[in-house]
Amino acid sequence: MTTPDPKSAPAIRWGILGAGGIAHKMADAIIHHTASELVAVGSRTPGKAEAFVADAGEGTAYTSYEDVVNDPNVDAVYVATTHNDHHEPALLAIEAGKHVLVEKAFTQNTAQAETVIAAARAKGVYLQEAMWTRFLPHVVELRAAIERGEIGDIVSLQADHSQALTHVERMFRPELAGGALLDLGVYPVAFAHDILGVPDAITAVGRLRDTGVDGQVSMVFEYPTSQATLHTTMEVRGPNTAVITGTEGRIEIADTFYAPTTFTVTRQDGTSWTYDGRVENGFQYEAAEVARGIAEGRSESAILPLDQTLEIMRIMDEVRAQIGLVYPNER
Ligand SMILES: NC(=O)c1ccc[n+]([C@@H]2O[C@H](COP(=O)([O-])OP(=O)(O)OC[C@H]3O[C@@H](n4cnc5c(N)ncnc54)[C@H](OP(=O)(O)O)[C@@H]3O)[C@@H](O)[C@H]2O)c1
Repeated sequence: MTTPDPKSAPAIRWGILGAGGIAHKMADAIIHHTASELVAVGSRTPGKAEAFVADAGEGTAYTSYEDVVNDPNVDAVYVATTHNDHHEPALLAIEAGKHVLVEKAFTQNTAQAETVIAAARAKGVYLQEAMWTRFLPHVVELRAAIERGEIGDIVSLQADHSQALTHVERMFRPELAGGALLDLGVYPVAFAHDILGVPDAITAVGRLRDTGVDGQVSMVFEYPTSQATLHTTMEVRGPNTAVITGTEGRIEIADTFYAPTTFTVTRQDGTSWTYDGRVENGFQYEAAEVARGIAEGRSESAILPLDQTLEIMRIMDEVRAQIGLVYPNER
């Protein structure tokens, strides 16, 4: 199986809401790795959008999100704000009739996700969670290897996402829905969901920092014939690997498992093969999925349908309930 070339996807015109760190990476993906263009960037921080477009070399700078979503040249909007503030900009874009790609974690909680998804469905616009891992070549290939039966029936899945982010202020701020789970832990959670689906039972243990955000979370997901053990912390860089073990072999995904990387399949008979999925950037695959969906008149991705985004958010809510993680606007 070959992942379609993102540059072969139809060209669309992107607007970006929030001119922060990850927006720069998406701008690079759109401009250099797709046929699409960046036409607008909105930032509520004075001067930030202007600096952003100067750096990107493309697009009009706006000082409000309203101006971006009301720009008739914008086809689709990428929401790249903090987790507490995904749903309102997404709703703003949907109301203006724009297609929307929303950064992970999709929203702060399931209730917000349901609101955004209902609005998009009512308006008939395309909506997708920016869980880029799902669309990356190595993940497409490993799903195909599992479907071919290369590792037999899955018995266990392990995944870690641990980064040293104690210098990042927003990570400590509960009102921005900071902490490890929504920023980092969502990757192991979404990966287990991708491979094994919705767990029958969840057990989570977490340690909260003094500001109230989660510094570290360990999770066990139970399935009828398998288990997933997942870990995240924002305090130290960890292995960031994943392993899927089956009755006939195992798949080991190299650091960093959720970004473009390699994986090795080792079968019980000792034979092995490696797939090299390293590509520049990587955001172009999720962006191309949006462009294809819009061109084909679809309103969601077949690879990451909105019902699955909701399932992931429900899992996240359950983990949060078990570790006592409540954001200030939920009290
Ligand atoms: N896919 C990935 O690999 C990846 C990697 C990192 C982050 N992310 C996700 O991307 C999103 C943004 O992360 P980031 O690292 O880019 O964040 P960031 O640079 O800290 O902030 C992004 C934007 O959010 C707004 N913002 C930040 N702090 C704020 C505050 N205190 N009050 C009000 N608004 C604030 C600002 O919007 P304005 O420009 O309008 O002022 C800022 O430009 C999150 O959902 C995160 O999980 C994804």
